[in-house]
Amino acid sequence: MKRLLILSGAGVSAESGIKTFRDSDGLWENYPVEDVACIEAWYRNPSLVLQFYNERRAQLEHAKPNKAHLIIASLEKHFEVCVVTQNIDNLHERAGSSHVIHLHGESTKVRPENTPANGKGVIDIGYKAIHLGDTDEHGIQLRPHIVWFGEEVPMMTQAIEEVEKADIMLIIGTSLAVYPAAGLIHYAKPGTKIFLIDPKPIHVSGIHITQIQKVATEGMQEFQKLMMDEDFFEK
Ligand code: OAD
Repeated sequence: MKRLLILSGAGVSAESGIKTFRDSDGLWENYPVEDVACIEAWYRNPSLVLQFYNERRAQLEHAKPNKAHLIIASLEKHFEVCVVTQNIDNLHERAGSSHVIHLHGESTKVRPENTPANGKGVIDIGYKAIHLGDTDEHGIQLRPHIVWFGEEVPMMTQAIEEVEKADIMLIIGTSLAVYPAAGLIHYAKPGTKIFLIDPKPIHVSGIHITQIQKVATEGMQEFQKLMMDEDFFEK
């Protein structure tokens, strides 16, 4: 089976009702990133940070995977699929994807605040809220299991290995504005066919990319048709 690497961002979940970050009325317009998504914010005002992620979790409980997540999952019948996502939601897993790498953490998980992202003590809390004073069994305050700005991205090593093995790469719903995730494309081996689905044109210099300028649900249907075309890989 050929290997298909999918790099997803907030746009893949937009049609499930989850806001993107940088579109107009996106999350960062309503919550300054420096107040809720960086380590300094956690030290300065942990209650606000907890509240922000409590809201994300509560919203996720009522969101459903959309057709784009479902098609991505169904492609496992024909390809060895690895999804590398910048999203902290669990919609890829709920759609049935079995190999998902979360670069920026997961909103349904927390860990003691003194533990690194790849350390022990990660707890799955589902859609519950956490507050100041909620601790692990040793009395250490719990924090969201999220990679904030200014923190290491421990899953990058594994993500790079997966990109290097890919025969086909699909980038979907990401502005490619945040590094190191945006740099993953440069690890694709020569000859890898690279596609990008986004309603806006996304510029990547020096790499040939086939853009499908559509929203995720429509773009994925077009991509799926291409992948099912037996002649495609001969061309
Ligand atoms: P952005 O908000 O930066 O980009 C979202 C992309 O999705 C844009 O290119 C939109 O055009 C596109 N988009 C919008 N609606 C879409 C739809 N229905 N179908 C397909 N695409 C659509 O989000 P990300 O690139 O995911 O990190 O942001 C990367 C990281 O920045 C996030 O993981 C988060 C954020 O700060 C952290 O919080 C650490």
